[in-house]
Amino acid sequence: MSRDCLTMDKLVSHCKTVGFVYPGSDIYGGLANTWDYGPLGVELKNNVKRSWWKRFVQESTATFGVDAAILMNSRVWDASGHTASFNDPKLDCKSCKTRYRADTLIEEHSKGAVNPDTMTYEEMGAYIAEHHVNCPRCGNHNWTAIRQFNMMFSTSRGVTEEGQDLIYLRPETAQGEFVNFLNVQRTTRAKVPFGIAQIGKSFRNEITPGNFIFRTIEFEQMEHQWFCHADDGARFYEEYKSKAWQYLIDLGFDESELRFKDHEKLAHYAAAACDINYHFPIGWSELNGIHNRTDYDLTRHQEYSGKSMAYLDPVTNTRFVPSVIEYSIGCDRLLLAVLCAAYDEEKLVDDKGREDTRVVMHFHPFLAPYKVAILPLQKKEQGSKAREVFATLSKHFMCTFDDTGSIGKRYRRQDQIGTPFCLTVDFDTLEDDTVTLRDRDSMEQIRLPLSEVVDYVQSRIQFN
Ligand code: GAP
Repeated sequence: MSRDCLTMDKLVSHCKTVGFVYPGSDIYGGLANTWDYGPLGVELKNNVKRSWWKRFVQESTATFGVDAAILMNSRVWDASGHTASFNDPKLDCKSCKTRYRADTLIEEHSKGAVNPDTMTYEEMGAYIAEHHVNCPRCGNHNWTAIRQFNMMFSTSRGVTEEGQDLIYLRPETAQGEFVNFLNVQRTTRAKVPFGIAQIGKSFRNEITPGNFIFRTIEFEQMEHQWFCHADDGARFYEEYKSKAWQYLIDLGFDESELRFKDHEKLAHYAAAACDINYHFPIGWSELNGIHNRTDYDLTRHQEYSGKSMAYLDPVTNTRFVPSVIEYSIGCDRLLLAVLCAAYDEEKLVDDKGREDTRVVMHFHPFLAPYKVAILPLQKKEQGSKAREVFATLSKHFMCTFDDTGSIGKRYRRQDQIGTPFCLTVDFDTLEDDTVTLRDRDSMEQIRLPLSEVVDYVQSRIQFN
């Protein structure tokens, strides 16, 4: 199945060929580590976002959505600690001028046996010297000292040269949720515990981005902050660990391809932190994080903004600054995992014993870019009826239309892009308004009255 046949290069090539993801600014030779979503990618990504929003906002009585501005007052980043410490340990090869992250070099050199997260900059420098870690590009051992590199992209605003203010492209969406804690609580009259969720773009000047859309400089995050009393923090941390896990299982991930990884080095304010790792073709890597951030975030914003973040509990009549359980997942990273899990090359043998391979994307039907492909058996005979069917069904879900090539070839094209159902309009359709519906995964076909297709498909594409 997918684990055996998939490499990252194969996936990138498949995505470019069929239209999920293209290199950014392609006709100009690209811009390293930027990617554009094509006609299939944009649908898949929207569906990933919808599934998350449905699970964590729509189905919750106590979580509310926001869509905060990307550009925020610079004081936000002072309060959050990003201005001072959103740094990676960078070092440059003095021979070929390539820049690296010291922690990544160590991790790769030790093949994962050494965890650089627990090391100081001095310890990392000593490891690189003692183990004679050479530049992966030119092979020399000619390093600068390890220095801090702030990963926030900065820009300026203001109409005159003199009056320019330094501002940043947000490196995480979380702060838009923290700074709206008071607004959301007041306008929704929510009682603690409650949650604020947001989906949006974040930007990081990563030193070593790469592995396709795994780590990029511009990406989308889906973040959820749960505000609660400190005494309940440990309980809700466990609850969000299971919710985050169950969400992935319900999207169709195999349990054996996922695992929790506790953070060995906690931030000074954190009470607990873990990631869920996924078995990507590049190895086990972080898919999402869950943190018990205590009352650090709201306390810092209280300090820097001068606005009280204290919540008056109407039952106990006590005031406290709420703690936060954060659940954060990269949309693009989840989409990459979805692509990896869905990709399959199936060996088929036809009734004459001939062997064939079909590439098929086994997406959860809710995520699939198109739900139904409408295929007239013969363009001339059934083309116009098929267009009528398209007009009706496309009012309910995304459909695609294909009238070129043999039906077998058209099925294969839809398998490659993960369309769960192929609907064939044939001679009988013109007589009795029935159609053939072919299932992507089982390849079985059923005959249905046209009037039942919408209900049937709707029932099969639910995400619950
Ligand atoms: N507010 C917490 C936060 O931002 P993070 O671990 O830095 O935590 C959360 O990021 C998630 O965002 C990660 O688990 C990953 O899925 C995604 N992510 C982080 N950096 C990324 C990047 N450069 N490219 C793509 N996704 C990224």
